[in-house]
Amino acid sequence: MAANALNRHLALAGFMGAGKTTLGAEAARRLRRPFVDLDREIERLAGATIEELFAREGEPAFREREAASASSILDSAEPAVIALGGGAVLSDTTRTTLARRAFTVLLEVESGVAWERASGEGGRPLALDEQAFHALFRERLPLYEETADAHAHDADGIVLAAAGVDVRIGALELLEELVPGTGPVEVVADANVAGIHGVTAQLALGSRDVALHDVPPGEPAKAIAVLERLWRALRIGRDGTIVGLGGGCTTDLAGFAAATYMRGVPWVAVPTTLVGQVDAAIGGKTAVDLPGGKNLVGSFHWPVRVVIDPATLETLPNEELENGMAEVVKTGLLMGTPVWELPLVDIVRRGAAFKAAVCLADPHDRGPRNQLNLGHTFGHALEAAAGYELPHGRAVALGMLAALRLSGNESAVAAVRSQLDPKPVRVDREAAWAARARDKKTVAGTPRLVLLQRWGEPTWGNELPAADVRAALDDLIAD
Ligand SMILES: NC(=O)c1ccc[n+]([C@@H]2O[C@H](COP(=O)([O-])OP(=O)(O)OC[C@H]3O[C@@H](n4cnc5c(N)ncnc54)[C@H](O)[C@@H]3O)[C@@H](O)[C@H]2O)c1
Ligand SMILES: [Zn+2]
Repeated sequence: MAANALNRHLALAGFMGAGKTTLGAEAARRLRRPFVDLDREIERLAGATIEELFAREGEPAFREREAASASSILDSAEPAVIALGGGAVLSDTTRTTLARRAFTVLLEVESGVAWERASGEGGRPLALDEQAFHALFRERLPLYEETADAHAHDADGIVLAAAGVDVRIGALELLEELVPGTGPVEVVADANVAGIHGVTAQLALGSRDVALHDVPPGEPAKAIAVLERLWRALRIGRDGTIVGLGGGCTTDLAGFAAATYMRGVPWVAVPTTLVGQVDAAIGGKTAVDLPGGKNLVGSFHWPVRVVIDPATLETLPNEELENGMAEVVKTGLLMGTPVWELPLVDIVRRGAAFKAAVCLADPHDRGPRNQLNLGHTFGHALEAAAGYELPHGRAVALGMLAALRLSGNESAVAAVRSQLDPKPVRVDREAAWAARARDKKTVAGTPRLVLLQRWGEPTWGNELPAADVRAALDDLIAD
């Protein structure tokens, strides 16, 4: 079974009226992939409507036609989002091709809701009689279940499933079910988090063969010495799974250990900070630090599953929650929706879905993923100049102010002020400017910035005059 839709088609299965067309188009937009509606494609190729084809040639001939179209679409190389017709999974061939070429998400809907929608639309030969409709629904459900790699009921759910991300309160208690496979599990846990949630996680892994490795809390975990100790302590073979339990530091370390140990073993991220749940654990970037800088050694290694339990945030210290809120405000500005106004559980789900979509669209950070750096060029410069004594959230909040001022976006500046209220920081101006020049995202000395002229419409790779960038940075620094 596929773990996610990375480099494969994302197929949506489900009964008529489940919303495959509408939600499929929305998912395709977010993943920046072409959208193919199988029924529309059949109609286009046949030059006739589904209703006409049913009447003209009968259901069996239509199913053959449908299977042939499904095969040719699924054989195309460019990963797409494909809305399957309600009956497409009846074909053995289509089911086999789906398993080989796609990650299939079952769009769940109640029988009654499906009937209201499908019968109301017209043009659906199998939605004419209500009793027959419900009978067909019951009959097909097992087939949908058999075909599905994951389930969803809305666009966020589709995107999360496509990235292998599971967000639910109490997820930690379901670890045994959520960590794929049956082999041994090595839990790499932040020592603080191990003390708070480690027992729950270990108990939840139930019958699995489990070993627990504590690593130092926070950034010190991302050190080569810690990584080497971990490499030496790991006992799993290729059938095992590494689980990273903690904030972004722990999941970055655990993910990089998984990327490198035995040339790569699967890993599962279980983020327990807000930063981890909306950002760090999603998207497959893993890294450790060198004395010369953060994240200088790393790799792309997508976790087979990200298990997000928002309930774990209840024990998170306030300052860590504030770090996360800076990323949440960034996310809201990029989405064009003030997600920060939502309850925390919804912030986590929407934030995680946003990050998942951007990373699926650009897994290797060659384009759209750049937008996630909004405010970070300035933020990193301030952090470096402060010798990393400055909390990342405050640095990013200040950095966003600079980027948004340069974008001329006053309402976004106001949102950052009212949500995060970042105060200028006392660091050496020359040191901050020099650090900016060393930023990984700088190309040949020219600052490339993420700007946001309009909410929800970021642009990246913007080259601005150095003097303007310098002035914007200086504005963030207190005398
Ligand atoms: N890979 C990526 O795409 C990515 C993205 C963003 C950030 N990051 C990395 O993430 C790191 C920052 O992660 P972070 O902000 O999660 O910090 P963190 O991992 O240092 O955790 C912060 C603190 O919170 C504690 N903690 C964690 N969960 C807790 C809980 N549930 N209850 C109580 N205490 C808890 C930890 O012990 C630690 O002291 C940085 O190293 C950054 O480079 C990576
Ligand atoms: Zn950040």
